[in-house]
Amino acid sequence: MSLIPEKKQNPAVKRVIGVVSGKGGVGKSMVASLLAESFASRGLNVGLLDADITGPSIPRMLGIDSFRAESDGEHLYPIENEEGIKVLSINLFNEKEDEPVIWRGPLLAKAIDQFWSDTVWGELDYLIIDFPPGTSDVVLTSFQIIPFSGIVVVATPQDYVSMIVRKSINMASMLKTPVLGVVENMRTMVCPHCGSEIALFDDGTQNGAQRMGLPLLASLPWRKELAQSRALRWSELSSAVHRDAEILANEVELALASLSSGSSASQG
Ligand SMILES: Nc1ncnc2c1ncn2[C@@H]1O[C@H](COP(=O)(O)OP(=O)(O)O)[C@@H](O)[C@H]1O
Ligand SMILES: [Mg+2]
Repeated sequence: MSLIPEKKQNPAVKRVIGVVSGKGGVGKSMVASLLAESFASRGLNVGLLDADITGPSIPRMLGIDSFRAESDGEHLYPIENEEGIKVLSINLFNEKEDEPVIWRGPLLAKAIDQFWSDTVWGELDYLIIDFPPGTSDVVLTSFQIIPFSGIVVVATPQDYVSMIVRKSINMASMLKTPVLGVVENMRTMVCPHCGSEIALFDDGTQNGAQRMGLPLLASLPWRKELAQSRALRWSELSSAVHRDAEILANEVELALASLSSGSSASQG
């Protein structure tokens, strides 16, 4: 059996970016949200699909957890947040947000297929997909059916020395999904008192992204405002966070551009 069945195209969605990590709690949903918000702040049409079906956190982060999405039995309709980002998450269909989803792998994988195929996304410049950690059924099915422009890997410096982040990268390459690079989270922290940036690793792990053979897209420090805020509303974030998110969005665009110039050069 081929690992790579025919991808399901949606011509209205120009680019699909997946955000993955080896393990949970490394800042994947935060990176997905900041990337979506940064693109939206430029006036682009952006969607965010929360594929972390058993641990959905996007509705809260984007401030729409009190809303409920609709389905007419055939199509799913995303909720648009204040920044104009179209969001779909399993938690927007649950009556209560703390209801667990008690499904086995194949059902989870089918749900992600539906979220991609049956949602009325409209015209999008970017669809960002926030994945569950690791290389579960949901990630495998998504890599098989969704035509990704590229994947962003989120890692903390500790992850470089383990093999789990490599598993995600290897899975992407086995399924012919291009990896754009690594977002390194929490190598440093910004002191809540004096504002100076403190190194947290002294450092055999420096240049970990490079050692994995991938470009470093951004390095995000630990910030008190990110740790404490329930939601990451663009209008309420500091200019320092805006700058981090804009650097990340720029680097993602550059990586996409170099991929497409690479592929047209090899075709030509
Ligand atoms: N750079 C950071 N500074 C402060 N808090 C962070 C940072 N990155 C992530 N966090 C916090 O850590 C927690 C886990 O982040 P999240 O994005 O939900 O991780 P994941 O999606 O990988 O499980 C969240 O509460 C988030 O606000
Ligand atoms: Mg998450």
